[in-house]
Amino acid sequence: MSGKRDTRVRRSWNRNAPWYDRCMRHYDRLLVGDGRSWVCAQAGWKVLEVAVGTGLNLPHYPAGAEVIGVDLSPEMLERARPRAAASPAAVTLVEASAMALPFSDAHFGTVVCTLALCCMSDERAAIREMHRVLRPGGRLLLLDHIPSTSLPVRAVQRLAVPLLMTVSSDYRPRRPLLLVEQTGFSVTRRERYCLGMMECIAAVKEPAGA
Ligand SMILES: C[S@@+](CC[C@H](N)C(=O)[O-])C[C@H]1O[C@@H](n2cnc3c(N)ncnc32)[C@H](O)[C@@H]1O
Repeated sequence: MSGKRDTRVRRSWNRNAPWYDRCMRHYDRLLVGDGRSWVCAQAGWKVLEVAVGTGLNLPHYPAGAEVIGVDLSPEMLERARPRAAASPAAVTLVEASAMALPFSDAHFGTVVCTLALCCMSDERAAIREMHRVLRPGGRLLLLDHIPSTSLPVRAVQRLAVPLLMTVSSDYRPRRPLLLVEQTGFSVTRRERYCLGMMECIAAVKEPAGA
């Protein structure tokens, strides 16, 4: 089931790839603000970035970090290549689904995912996979837009859903916080900004049996 949905999602992101960066210039300025540097500044040395897209986070990682970026869409990854080459970190790009990460258990010290859980076909499975590949004590860093704390803004967000579904076939506004807590992470930091529309989460994978 999620295989078919992933095929649809891949197709929509392959289609979006040529204009994504242009559109994100405005989106990042208006909504994301310092979110990308907030996330990357907390990443350790062995990092997995899930749904890396065109690599807009890659300039923000510290020098010396080792980053593997995965994405479902080969067209998005193609556009990430120049940023991977120019990044202060050592970056490898891999085509893979967040729901079936091709890495062994407890392989990474940090998992990063920005602006992508909102368009995955199964965000619960994706967070489970992020948990699996993190070593105990490893850090999960998320940034996403969520339903606003302001009622009028929430109404506008609801009206925008059909439009956003034409961009990404599986788009839905989600609330990752609860899922993160249910999956065996301890949330260490959470910040909401931009009328509560943007959420940054830092969480730690609890040791087994904790
Ligand atoms: C809105 S873009 C975000 C890209 C990037 N993280 C950023 O912050 O600019 C969403 C990305 O999620 C990717 N994606 C969606 N579902 C995925 C999945 N199941 N596995 C891996 N990547 C996925 C899409 O291909 C796309 O590149």
